[in-house]
Amino acid sequence: MVSAVIGTQWGDEGKAKVIDLLACKYDYVVRYQGGANAGHTVVIGNKKFIFHLLPSGLMNPNATVVIANGVVVDLQQLEEEIESLEALGFPTRSRVIISDKAHIVMEYHKIIDQLRESLSPKKIGTTARGIGPCYEDKIARKGIKICDLVNLSASQLAEKIKLVSQEKVFLIKNLYNYDYDFDPVKLAQECKEKFEKLGIRVENTEILLNEEIKRGKNILFEGAQGVLLDIDFGTYPYVTSSNASTNGVGSGAGVTRLDNVIGIVKAYTTRVGEGPFPTEQDNEIGEKLRARGDEFGATTGRPRRCGWLDIPLLRYSTIVANVNEIFLTKLDVLSEFEEIKVCVEYELNGEKMRIPRSMDPVTLYSIKPVYKTFKGWKTKISGVRTFRELPSEAKEYIKFIESEIGVPIKYISVGPSREQTIVL
Ligand code: GDP
Ligand code: IMO
Ligand code: MG
Repeated sequence: MVSAVIGTQWGDEGKAKVIDLLACKYDYVVRYQGGANAGHTVVIGNKKFIFHLLPSGLMNPNATVVIANGVVVDLQQLEEEIESLEALGFPTRSRVIISDKAHIVMEYHKIIDQLRESLSPKKIGTTARGIGPCYEDKIARKGIKICDLVNLSASQLAEKIKLVSQEKVFLIKNLYNYDYDFDPVKLAQECKEKFEKLGIRVENTEILLNEEIKRGKNILFEGAQGVLLDIDFGTYPYVTSSNASTNGVGSGAGVTRLDNVIGIVKAYTTRVGEGPFPTEQDNEIGEKLRARGDEFGATTGRPRRCGWLDIPLLRYSTIVANVNEIFLTKLDVLSEFEEIKVCVEYELNGEKMRIPRSMDPVTLYSIKPVYKTFKGWKTKISGVRTFRELPSEAKEYIKFIESEIGVPIKYISVGPSREQTIVL
């Protein structure tokens, strides 16, 4: 079985809880895009761990975890993550395989990301982890890859870093007026040492994964961010710089066979950073969602913008990501609401839209969401383990979402831990 877990909204749908829960069925859990901009929270008992770069299936002792070619890697972050997991008692180092083709996030990428965000009049609200500038270098063929750290001598690597970073240093100094310089020889040495210290296996992960699929092994691809943040299909320019949707698995891991795509849908909507958000509730409803759902960024700690579920966007994202089953999360967060609204279509100058006719912010800022109101269930559901036991109002809400999106809901999450899950 080859599966992918994909966020269908603007990230933070609860992907990591799902991956941790499902990982026991898989031999490999693979990250294929993004970098340390991701914040993936796994809760086991009273322990909570936030993954940024390592796949969230790591707490399943049998899974080998893979960082594939499409990921951009911050070596310092990776070392910290490995150390924290080992300190918690999870053998990690020996179970991580990294692609020789993954790109490295360099210090200058992070500096550019931060300076751009602080100086630009039109901010994206990035996580400032250097993700965009690192992918820019990848596309411009000026990236430093894991294979460079392995195959080049320190002096060869220094030469390469000097060559590819010239434009960056010029930009930082002259456009952003920021006093920055570094010694390529020292930086090359540091990068090589940091990587050696990691002590993880380097492979042609695209060959490994395809061969393991042929042998009948089970592989789970872990999407970071969500379809609406995908560089091609999201609300561009308010997106991340990689293919966060299912499309990223092909380019980010070299695997084109997928047996199923599990779309994660949060029972309401959140967004961190700038950009259009048609169902946003910038009022006490949004505040209540944020407080009940603990909606603060797992990477940056920023308060997440909150609003009602947006079915037109979900119709779009589930089609684009080829989602064949839905894992509905955080239903318990809606428990205290008297009434719950769901956007069922958009209206623009008298035209009705079931699916947004464009993902362009100009369109999404102009449309008017049309809501259907549901009666709340007003009872705690975090202890419920079967669909039958759910209050009738919650059942009605779930069935409505399922029929409007047109994809079966196979699981419902009613709390952050593994066992707080209803299987349908
Ligand atoms: P990810 O980036 O998609 O993995 O999601 P995050 O980890 O950034 O954010 C999801 C948050 O919701 C985390 O704090 C999870 O522990 C929590 N969570 C996941 N599922 C549920 C749920 O069903 N109910 C509640 N109350 N919290 C959940
Ligand atoms: P997970 O995997 C939510 C958002 C940022 C910003 C935009 C671009 O935890 O769901 P970037 O640093 O990627 O250049 O920022 O994307 N963003 C996320 N929002 N969850 C994430 O990851 C995100 N990763 C990036 O807030 O709006
Ligand atoms: Mg997150």
